[in-house]
Amino acid sequence: MIRRIFLTTCLAGLAACSLETSAEVETETASTPHIVAASQVEAGRYLVELGGCQDCHTAGWPESGGQIAADDQLLGVPVGFKGPWGVSYANNLRLVAAAYTPEEWVEMMRTRQGLPPMPWTTVNRMSDSDLLAVHAYLVSLGEKGETMPGAVPPGVEPATPYIYFMPVGPDVQTG
Ligand code: HEC
Repeated sequence: MIRRIFLTTCLAGLAACSLETSAEVETETASTPHIVAASQVEAGRYLVELGGCQDCHTAGWPESGGQIAADDQLLGVPVGFKGPWGVSYANNLRLVAAAYTPEEWVEMMRTRQGLPPMPWTTVNRMSDSDLLAVHAYLVSLGEKGETMPGAVPPGVEPATPYIYFMPVGPDVQTG
């Protein structure tokens, strides 16, 4: 229906045509919040920086105030996060993204319930459009680096350094 109106208006003149284009985009996405940027890759870059993905997936990002060259970003960090879930690692997102088609990526990010402190509940709620933008940005960086260690189950000491993610101090119940 929208497309038919669009074509009819288009025949009436070029100005009306471009007006109708933005109306069409708005109609199709009105109920789904999403980032608007000059390109899908730019939208993805913005979402990755805003989403704090770099804080965990780029070595040295928080320590340097984000002063890491793009070519060295999102390669994963071989320092684990240890808690009641065992030890988890923020993997190399450039290799991970390359292993998924855009559609598979949306499905995985929408449904996966993995380990802390990865904000799975947050990324599960992202719109298709934003998830596709994140994928496009990660793929645009190119494959580089190594895969990080897999998760270690509770009770097993990891072979890498780790950050201990448990509350300590007065009145903390340890049992
Ligand atoms: C607080 C640290 C933290 C932040 C912030 C974070 N991650 Fe993660 N991420 C992790 C950890 C730890 C894992 C491993 C979790 C697991 O095993 O389920 C992970 C896993 C992943 C995986 C799965 C990797 C694989 O090997 O399959 C993807 C994809 C991912 N993160 C993407 C993102 C994106 C995109 C963002 C930003 C929106 C983000 N992460 C923000 C820590 C983080």
